[in-house]
Amino acid sequence: MKSGITAWRSPSNIALVKYWGKKGFQLPGNPSVSMTLTHSYTETTIEYSQKADSEKPSFNFLFHGEKNITFERRTGIFLEIALKELPALKHFHLDIESSNSFPHSAGIASSASSISSLALCLCQINQQVSGIIEDEEIFYRKASRLARMGSGSASRSVYGGWVLWGETPVISNSSNDYAFPISDYANKVFNTYYDAILIVNSGVKQVTSSEGHKLMESNPFREIKFLSGSQNVIELIDAIKNGNEKVFRNIAEYEAMSLHAMFLTSNPYFVLLKPETLQIIDRLNKFRNESGLEFCFTLDAGPNIHLLYSESIRERMIAFIRSDLIFFCEKGMWIDDRIGKGPELIQN
Ligand code: DP6
Repeated sequence: MKSGITAWRSPSNIALVKYWGKKGFQLPGNPSVSMTLTHSYTETTIEYSQKADSEKPSFNFLFHGEKNITFERRTGIFLEIALKELPALKHFHLDIESSNSFPHSAGIASSASSISSLALCLCQINQQVSGIIEDEEIFYRKASRLARMGSGSASRSVYGGWVLWGETPVISNSSNDYAFPISDYANKVFNTYYDAILIVNSGVKQVTSSEGHKLMESNPFREIKFLSGSQNVIELIDAIKNGNEKVFRNIAEYEAMSLHAMFLTSNPYFVLLKPETLQIIDRLNKFRNESGLEFCFTLDAGPNIHLLYSESIRERMIAFIRSDLIFFCEKGMWIDDRIGKGPELIQN
């Protein structure tokens, strides 16, 4: 009877060109590009043991050492999907434990880090129990594809640095099925990027990503969003290659605003921006005009601001956050994160 243990740490990522709206089963309406983070991550450990009855895998799930019905249900759904891809898993009982480096209430989307760490563990177990050790590129691609089926943005967290998910004519290996790392193409300035996550509101989202994506099916701007997202990916990759921070900023901020425009034009509409979000944006625009510094902001499906900037202006940005922006954050909360190397195998 085979048994063992594996653990992966997988970071969250922040999208610059957004995935919002699906086609078919977990395929994106347009390609997206993200930056993988360092300090915001999920660690997942799975202890597996072979069992006599083998119709279905059985599992226990703990989050920070405790039962969590919502995450357990999501894990169960993901395991059903994974079983189709990795049928050897049905012979095993899985004890899964997961924890996040960031407070659950910080309003940071955790599905990218949690589902990607789970996908990596499952692919790892599959290798161990089948005895077939895959080449690294194939292993990660498989994990990215599997993660995508659980949560689209999770497909990108399987890789470090700058990551593309979705087909685009400018990158020959791009695919809607899995993500593809593009850091090798990046100008060095973009490999020094920081992300200050300004927590405006830590509340649980009023509309889940799945519900939001679903509303895109009837959004009258759906096709326009897909077309402009596809074009923005082409231009953003070019800016990342050329180190053009101004073009990068224009695209990132436009994408953030058009994501929220999709929320406002859904039926029923939903508003995720808070007054403080707009106040921070206003301050940032004034500071940019006065200082001439090049930085940008983006937004996820929530009110929190991701402030992206390069290492060369770090001191000034930190000083500005402390003097002018912290006031708008819930309990002065912000996370000092940066571009990261991607997931790490921490136990095998
Ligand atoms: C706004 O990946 O959470 O963060 O595939 O339904 O799990 P599902 O959606 P999810 O959507 C992410 C939306 C976003 C933009 C992005 O990360 O590209």
